[in-house]
Amino acid sequence: MSKVTVVGAGNVGATCANILAIKETASEVVLIDIKEGLAEGKILDMFQTETLLDIDTKLTGVTNDYSKTAGSDVVVITSGIPRKPGMTREELIGTNAGIVKNVIESVVKYSPDAIILIVSNPMDTMTYLAAKASGLPRNRVFGMGGALDSARFKCYLSKAIGANINEIEGMVIGGHGDTTMIPVTSLATYKGIPVSKFLNADEIKKVVGETMVGGATLTGLLGTSAWYAPGAAAAYIVEAILKDQKKIIPSCVALEGEYGQNDICIGVPTIIGRNGAEKVLEIELSDEEKKLFEASVAAVRKTTSILSESGIL
Ligand code: NAI
Ligand code: 2OP
Repeated sequence: MSKVTVVGAGNVGATCANILAIKETASEVVLIDIKEGLAEGKILDMFQTETLLDIDTKLTGVTNDYSKTAGSDVVVITSGIPRKPGMTREELIGTNAGIVKNVIESVVKYSPDAIILIVSNPMDTMTYLAAKASGLPRNRVFGMGGALDSARFKCYLSKAIGANINEIEGMVIGGHGDTTMIPVTSLATYKGIPVSKFLNADEIKKVVGETMVGGATLTGLLGTSAWYAPGAAAAYIVEAILKDQKKIIPSCVALEGEYGQNDICIGVPTIIGRNGAEKVLEIELSDEEKKLFEASVAAVRKTTSILSESGIL
């Protein structure tokens, strides 16, 4: 028996809850939102797909009543506003920090043993805030960004090579921002063969650029930020936790000396299993990638410092 709560019944939260229900990843999924009726309505709609899809996940939708989330094994936090065309993720901090801080208090009160996955943007800063506000160890509070950015990297690599997307491996580390993420080209492969055997330097550079603005491209097309892949990426991590899959998923984790950094939450390769972010892996980066990581750390620190400067932390 496992219970997952998704906070925020908007585009990303509802998509995540729907995937968890359809894949029967958890025996119970609770969707909660501050907006009256939204979570109840989406859950009722999802429940009406169960006989059509031959699934049997217990589904609960609630407005702001955290008692219904009690005893959750995993809580996914998507509450907050998304970016609009032309906005950066960082510009969302003023609104989303207050929301995430309040939500964390309620989540921890009713599910003191839960593993908490942060999705709300700016995700690296929101993860830092959630970690500090909850006081939980780093394996139990971490953020989703690298899973999505890596999926986008693999999408653009497969298009450029003309390869089956499931034969591509690739990882994106660093901050979850248009200028802070680092697609690790040195480790990207097509069925284990380095992508440099299939693409020249300019083609790889183009893929890197497309990946970095992957979210902005979709925001431009959709008028708000994307939800299918973000919701799927969050559900992918929840599944890795509940099934103790020990998958290596780049995730936003509080660093404790790894990569020479402390007191920062940023994307690094992490082993995800039943205890959450179980182990941070220190991979060999090229000199160029090391420089990019240092710059990403500086940028994430700058955004995160707004929390203390504005008295939120
Ligand atoms: P959305 O606007 O569709 O949904 C957000 C939901 O949060 C709304 O239904 C709203 O009523 C709810 N909400 C606001 N305050 C709340 C509170 N105090 N308690 C409970 N619910 C509350 O937005 P969308 O597209 O679902 O995005 C959600 C967040 O996820 C945004 O901050 C977005 O930037 C971020 N995001 C992060 C990604 C990542 O890779 N980390 C990828 C995509 C989106
Ligand atoms: C995305 O990457 C905006 O974080 C959101 O789609």
